[in-house]
Amino acid sequence: MNNRSLIVANWKANPATAKEAVALARSIERGISKYRNIEVVIAPPLLFLEAVGKVIKKLKLGAQDIFWDEGPYTGEVSWRELKEAGVKYVIVGHSERKIHLGETDEMINKKTRAALEGGLTCVLCVGEQERVGNEISEILGEQLKHALDGVKKAYLKNLTVAYEPIWAISTTPGARANTPDNMFRAIVYIKKILTTLYGRRAADSVRVIYGGSVSADNIGPFLREGKAEGALVGRASLDPKEFIKLVGEASKTAR
Ligand code: PGA
Repeated sequence: MNNRSLIVANWKANPATAKEAVALARSIERGISKYRNIEVVIAPPLLFLEAVGKVIKKLKLGAQDIFWDEGPYTGEVSWRELKEAGVKYVIVGHSERKIHLGETDEMINKKTRAALEGGLTCVLCVGEQERVGNEISEILGEQLKHALDGVKKAYLKNLTVAYEPIWAISTTPGARANTPDNMFRAIVYIKKILTTLYGRRAADSVRVIYGGSVSADNIGPFLREGKAEGALVGRASLDPKEFIKLVGEASKTAR
Protein backbone atom coordinates (compact mmCIF):
# COMPACT_ATOMS: atom_id res chain seq x y z
CA MET A 1 0.00 0.00 0.00
CA ASN A 2 1.12 3.50 -0.81
CA ASN A 3 1.76 5.16 2.51
CA ARG A 4 1.30 8.84 1.72
CA SER A 5 -2.14 10.31 1.20
CA LEU A 6 -2.72 11.79 -2.23
CA ILE A 7 -4.65 15.02 -2.64
CA VAL A 8 -5.50 15.97 -6.23
CA ALA A 9 -6.77 19.47 -7.01
CA ASN A 10 -9.03 19.41 -10.05
CA TRP A 11 -9.36 23.02 -11.18
CA LYS A 12 -11.65 22.11 -14.11
CA ALA A 13 -12.01 25.11 -16.51
CA ASN A 14 -10.77 27.59 -13.89
CA PRO A 15 -9.28 30.17 -13.52
CA ALA A 16 -9.65 32.21 -16.72
CA THR A 17 -6.11 33.49 -17.10
CA ALA A 18 -2.57 32.13 -16.88
CA LYS A 19 -1.74 34.90 -14.45
CA GLU A 20 -4.42 33.79 -12.00
CA ALA A 21 -3.47 30.13 -12.44
CA VAL A 22 0.16 30.87 -11.64
CA ALA A 23 -0.80 32.99 -8.63
CA LEU A 24 -3.05 30.23 -7.30
CA ALA A 25 -0.33 27.61 -7.80
CA ARG A 26 2.21 29.84 -6.04
CA SER A 27 0.02 30.37 -2.99
CA ILE A 28 -0.74 26.67 -2.71
CA GLU A 29 2.94 25.77 -3.12
CA ARG A 30 3.90 28.17 -0.34
CA GLY A 31 1.17 26.94 1.98
CA ILE A 32 1.70 23.21 1.62
CA SER A 33 5.47 22.96 1.39
CA LYS A 34 5.85 22.26 5.12
CA TYR A 35 3.78 19.08 4.92
CA ARG A 36 6.13 16.25 4.19
CA ASN A 37 3.85 13.28 4.62
CA ILE A 38 1.47 14.04 1.83
CA GLU A 39 1.51 14.10 -1.96
CA VAL A 40 -0.33 17.03 -3.55
CA VAL A 41 -1.14 17.28 -7.24
CA ILE A 42 -2.67 20.24 -9.05
CA ALA A 43 -4.49 19.74 -12.33
CA PRO A 44 -4.89 23.14 -14.00
CA PRO A 45 -6.49 23.67 -17.42
CA LEU A 46 -4.37 22.20 -20.22
CA LEU A 47 -3.43 25.60 -21.56
CA PHE A 48 -1.79 26.63 -18.28
CA LEU A 49 0.15 23.44 -17.56
CA GLU A 50 3.51 24.77 -18.62
CA ALA A 51 3.20 28.14 -16.89
CA VAL A 52 2.08 26.46 -13.66
CA GLY A 53 4.75 23.77 -14.00
CA LYS A 54 7.44 26.44 -13.91
CA VAL A 55 6.46 27.78 -10.49
CA ILE A 56 5.90 24.57 -8.54
CA LYS A 57 8.42 22.42 -6.75
CA LYS A 58 6.79 20.26 -4.15
CA LEU A 59 3.46 20.18 -5.94
CA LYS A 60 3.14 17.71 -8.81
CA LEU A 61 1.51 18.48 -12.10
CA GLY A 62 -1.63 16.68 -13.25
CA ALA A 63 -3.76 16.84 -16.39
CA GLN A 64 -7.54 16.63 -16.44
CA ASP A 65 -7.72 14.38 -19.49
CA ILE A 66 -5.65 12.52 -22.08
CA PHE A 67 -6.22 11.06 -25.53
CA TRP A 68 -5.29 7.45 -26.31
CA ASP A 69 -3.23 8.06 -29.42
CA GLU A 70 -1.21 10.69 -31.22
CA GLY A 71 -1.65 11.98 -34.76
CA PRO A 72 -4.76 13.20 -36.59
CA TYR A 73 -7.03 13.85 -33.60
CA THR A 74 -8.05 17.49 -33.69
CA GLY A 75 -8.16 19.15 -30.32
CA GLU A 76 -6.79 16.18 -28.38
CA VAL A 77 -3.57 15.72 -26.42
CA SER A 78 -1.37 12.64 -26.16
CA TRP A 79 0.55 11.17 -23.23
CA ARG A 80 3.81 12.17 -24.88
CA GLU A 81 2.74 15.81 -25.08
CA LEU A 82 1.56 15.77 -21.49
CA LYS A 83 4.85 14.31 -20.31
CA GLU A 84 6.72 16.93 -22.31
CA ALA A 85 4.82 19.57 -20.31
CA GLY A 86 5.93 17.96 -17.03
CA VAL A 87 2.72 16.11 -16.25
CA LYS A 88 2.98 13.13 -13.91
CA TYR A 89 -0.68 12.41 -13.14
CA VAL A 90 -3.76 12.31 -15.29
CA ILE A 91 -7.42 12.24 -14.32
CA VAL A 92 -9.36 9.80 -16.48
CA GLY A 93 -13.12 9.27 -16.77
CA HIS A 94 -14.33 12.23 -14.75
CA SER A 95 -18.12 12.22 -14.62
CA GLU A 96 -18.32 15.72 -16.11
CA ARG A 97 -16.70 14.35 -19.26
CA LYS A 98 -19.20 11.52 -19.37
CA ILE A 99 -22.13 13.89 -18.86
CA HIS A 100 -21.11 16.81 -21.07
CA LEU A 101 -18.95 15.12 -23.69
CA GLY A 102 -20.43 11.65 -23.94
CA GLU A 103 -17.29 9.85 -22.81
CA THR A 104 -18.00 6.11 -22.82
CA ASP A 105 -16.59 3.12 -20.92
CA GLU A 106 -14.67 2.14 -24.04
CA MET A 107 -13.05 5.57 -24.33
CA ILE A 108 -12.19 5.50 -20.63
CA ASN A 109 -10.56 2.11 -21.08
CA LYS A 110 -8.41 3.39 -23.95
CA LYS A 111 -7.42 6.48 -21.97
CA THR A 112 -6.59 4.44 -18.87
CA ARG A 113 -4.34 2.18 -20.90
CA ALA A 114 -2.69 5.08 -22.71
CA ALA A 115 -1.96 6.86 -19.42
CA LEU A 116 -0.53 3.80 -17.69
CA GLU A 117 1.40 2.50 -20.69
CA GLY A 118 2.77 5.99 -21.26
CA GLY A 119 4.22 6.02 -17.73
CA LEU A 120 1.74 8.41 -16.10
CA THR A 121 -0.11 7.85 -12.86
CA CYS A 122 -3.75 7.39 -13.75
CA VAL A 123 -6.43 8.76 -11.42
CA LEU A 124 -9.39 6.77 -12.64
CA CYS A 125 -12.80 8.09 -11.59
CA VAL A 126 -15.70 5.80 -10.87
CA GLY A 127 -19.02 6.71 -9.31
CA GLU A 128 -22.73 6.12 -9.48
CA GLN A 129 -25.24 8.72 -10.61
CA GLU A 130 -27.83 8.28 -7.89
CA ARG A 131 -27.75 7.24 -4.33
CA VAL A 132 -29.98 4.28 -3.52
CA GLY A 133 -30.21 4.07 0.26
CA ASN A 134 -26.85 3.01 1.63
CA GLU A 135 -26.19 0.43 -1.04
CA ILE A 136 -22.80 0.34 -2.73
CA SER A 137 -23.74 0.39 -6.38
CA GLU A 138 -22.54 -2.49 -8.53
CA ILE A 139 -22.02 0.09 -11.26
CA LEU A 140 -18.68 0.83 -9.58
CA GLY A 141 -17.55 -2.72 -10.25
CA GLU A 142 -18.77 -2.56 -13.85
CA GLN A 143 -17.00 0.74 -14.46
CA LEU A 144 -13.77 -0.59 -12.96
CA LYS A 145 -13.83 -3.79 -14.97
CA HIS A 146 -14.43 -1.91 -18.23
CA ALA A 147 -11.75 0.68 -17.51
CA LEU A 148 -9.16 -1.95 -16.64
CA ASP A 149 -9.88 -4.34 -19.48
CA GLY A 150 -6.50 -5.35 -20.92
CA VAL A 151 -4.50 -3.44 -18.28
CA LYS A 152 -1.56 -5.56 -17.14
CA LYS A 153 -0.97 -6.18 -13.45
CA ALA A 154 2.45 -4.53 -13.63
CA TYR A 155 0.76 -1.16 -14.17
CA LEU A 156 -1.43 -1.27 -11.09
CA LYS A 157 1.12 0.42 -8.89
CA ASN A 158 0.55 3.55 -10.98
CA LEU A 159 -3.20 3.39 -10.64
CA THR A 160 -5.30 5.44 -8.24
CA VAL A 161 -9.05 4.92 -8.16
CA ALA A 162 -11.11 7.98 -7.25
CA TYR A 163 -14.53 7.08 -5.91
CA GLU A 164 -16.63 10.07 -6.95
CA PRO A 165 -20.36 9.53 -6.58
CA ILE A 166 -21.97 12.02 -8.97
CA TRP A 167 -24.63 12.97 -6.42
CA ALA A 168 -21.86 14.20 -4.11
CA ILE A 169 -19.99 16.44 -6.56
CA SER A 170 -20.51 20.07 -5.58
CA THR A 171 -21.80 21.11 -9.01
CA THR A 172 -24.60 18.52 -8.99
CA PRO A 173 -27.83 20.24 -7.92
CA GLY A 174 -28.66 19.28 -4.32
CA ALA A 175 -25.18 17.77 -3.82
CA ARG A 176 -24.17 16.61 -0.37
CA ALA A 177 -20.89 15.00 0.65
CA ASN A 178 -20.81 11.26 1.10
CA THR A 179 -20.44 9.82 4.60
CA PRO A 180 -17.13 8.34 5.78
CA ASP A 181 -18.95 5.09 6.52
CA ASN A 182 -20.23 4.84 2.97
CA MET A 183 -16.75 5.67 1.68
CA PHE A 184 -15.28 2.87 3.74
CA ARG A 185 -17.72 0.36 2.30
CA ALA A 186 -17.01 1.62 -1.22
CA ILE A 187 -13.26 1.09 -0.67
CA VAL A 188 -13.83 -2.44 0.54
CA TYR A 189 -15.96 -3.11 -2.55
CA ILE A 190 -13.44 -1.54 -4.95
CA LYS A 191 -10.55 -3.49 -3.40
CA LYS A 192 -12.59 -6.66 -3.65
CA ILE A 193 -13.13 -6.15 -7.37
CA LEU A 194 -9.44 -5.34 -7.85
CA THR A 195 -8.49 -8.45 -5.89
CA THR A 196 -10.73 -10.60 -8.08
CA LEU A 197 -9.09 -9.12 -11.17
CA TYR A 198 -5.46 -9.00 -10.08
CA GLY A 199 -4.97 -10.71 -6.73
CA ARG A 200 -4.56 -9.28 -3.27
CA ARG A 201 -1.07 -7.82 -3.51
CA ALA A 202 -1.68 -5.89 -6.68
CA ALA A 203 -5.04 -4.68 -5.33
CA ASP A 204 -3.33 -3.41 -2.20
CA SER A 205 -0.93 -1.34 -4.28
CA VAL A 206 -3.82 0.69 -5.73
CA ARG A 207 -4.69 3.84 -3.86
CA VAL A 208 -8.41 4.52 -3.45
CA ILE A 209 -9.33 8.15 -2.86
CA TYR A 210 -12.61 10.02 -2.40
CA GLY A 211 -14.08 12.93 -4.35
CA GLY A 212 -17.30 14.89 -3.93
CA SER A 213 -17.69 18.12 -1.92
CA VAL A 214 -14.46 17.54 0.01
CA SER A 215 -13.57 20.46 2.29
CA ALA A 216 -11.13 21.26 5.08
CA ASP A 217 -13.91 20.29 7.52
CA ASN A 218 -14.69 16.83 6.21
CA ILE A 219 -11.34 15.60 4.86
CA GLY A 220 -10.24 14.32 8.30
CA PRO A 221 -13.20 11.96 8.78
CA PHE A 222 -12.92 10.70 5.20
CA LEU A 223 -9.30 9.73 5.73
CA ARG A 224 -9.63 8.48 9.30
CA GLU A 225 -13.00 6.77 9.44
CA GLY A 226 -13.60 6.38 5.72
CA LYS A 227 -10.05 5.01 5.23
CA ALA A 228 -9.75 6.96 2.00
CA GLU A 229 -6.13 7.18 0.87
CA GLY A 230 -6.57 10.73 -0.30
CA ALA A 231 -9.05 12.97 -2.09
CA LEU A 232 -9.94 14.49 -5.44
CA VAL A 233 -10.95 18.06 -4.73
CA GLY A 234 -12.83 20.41 -7.06
CA ARG A 235 -14.34 23.59 -5.67
CA ALA A 236 -12.25 23.78 -2.49
CA SER A 237 -9.03 23.60 -4.52
CA LEU A 238 -9.72 27.01 -6.09
CA ASP A 239 -9.62 28.77 -2.74
CA PRO A 240 -5.98 28.68 -1.60
CA LYS A 241 -6.77 29.26 2.07
CA GLU A 242 -9.33 26.48 2.18
CA PHE A 243 -7.16 24.12 0.16
CA ILE A 244 -4.04 24.67 2.27
CA LYS A 245 -6.13 24.06 5.39
CA LEU A 246 -7.51 20.90 3.79
CA VAL A 247 -3.99 19.62 3.06
CA GLY A 248 -2.99 20.48 6.65
CA GLU A 249 -5.92 18.46 8.00
CA ALA A 250 -5.02 15.57 5.72
CA SER A 251 -1.44 15.64 6.91
CA LYS A 252 -2.61 15.11 10.50
CA THR A 253 -3.87 11.73 9.39
CA ALA A 254 -0.41 10.62 8.32
CA ARG A 255 -0.35 6.92 7.73
P1 PGA B 1 -16.08 19.05 -5.86
O1 PGA B 1 -15.60 18.35 -7.23
O2 PGA B 1 -14.98 18.90 -4.87
O3 PGA B 1 -16.33 20.48 -6.27
O4 PGA B 1 -17.33 18.34 -5.46
C1 PGA B 1 -14.94 17.13 -7.23
C2 PGA B 1 -14.71 16.70 -8.63
O5 PGA B 1 -15.58 16.94 -9.51
O6 PGA B 1 -13.65 16.11 -8.94
